[in-house]
Amino acid sequence: MYIILGPPGAGKGTLSEYLVEKTGIRHISTGDVLRDRMKKGDAFAKKIKALLDRGELLDNETINSMMLELMQSLKDDFVLFDGYPRKMGQATFIDEHFKVTGVIFVTCPDELIVKRLSSRRICPKCGRVYNLITMPPKEDNLCDVCKVKLIQRDDDKPDAVKRRLELYHKETQPLYDYYNNKGLLKEVDSSKPLNDFLEEGLRVFNSFNK
Ligand code: AP5
Repeated sequence: MYIILGPPGAGKGTLSEYLVEKTGIRHISTGDVLRDRMKKGDAFAKKIKALLDRGELLDNETINSMMLELMQSLKDDFVLFDGYPRKMGQATFIDEHFKVTGVIFVTCPDELIVKRLSSRRICPKCGRVYNLITMPPKEDNLCDVCKVKLIQRDDDKPDAVKRRLELYHKETQPLYDYYNNKGLLKEVDSSKPLNDFLEEGLRVFNSFNK
């Protein structure tokens, strides 16, 4: 399995989609798994929503058992984890249960992240991601495919973005050294123009298998 790591809004989801298209890898985003679980509307879904909306992280036990269950239901491990691990206790859990082949670390300065997240819009139907500045829809505020009105994620609002960045620097950034010391990590710079970023990401991904 492979991991894509980096700050919120750096472009992990965008690069993951490209890698899926080019390599056929299965993309598992913990954020997407949680947003999907939220749709059930039960007590656990409400707890997830409250945490996500504020930009807080879920506890390791919940995330680890959710991911283990999901992986056990799959036939192979040609999988890209996006947003997992996010804390040291998740990285050590992964080492106990899975073999990590490579880690892509997406870099992006905080100022650019704030700009990108405030202009990101999502299709509530198909989940396609747009950006009002860099990747706008063809028609004003409508999904190119579903033609439904685009929405902003609650956790892309300023206070939640601030908290997500704080938690990222405290909890997730230390994983850079963890994987770098194991010789598994390669960086991709997402402050570059989109196509350059995607091509570099694909080159890095392919280099893990050489
Ligand atoms: P999650 O959904 O994983 O959020 P995140 O890591 O904050 O990542 P994002 O989806 O916001 O950003 P991204 O890097 O994928 O950026 P994107 O490609 O869209 O998790 C949400 C929440 O779930 C967490 O806050 C937490 O509460 C909880 N959670 C999840 N996993 C957890 C875990 N393991 N443990 C505990 N809690 C967990 O790009 C952003 C924008 O930039 C887009 O508009 C895109 O078009 C644009 N863009 C990207 N690259 C470029 C470029 N090179 N040029 C121009 N525009 C670009």
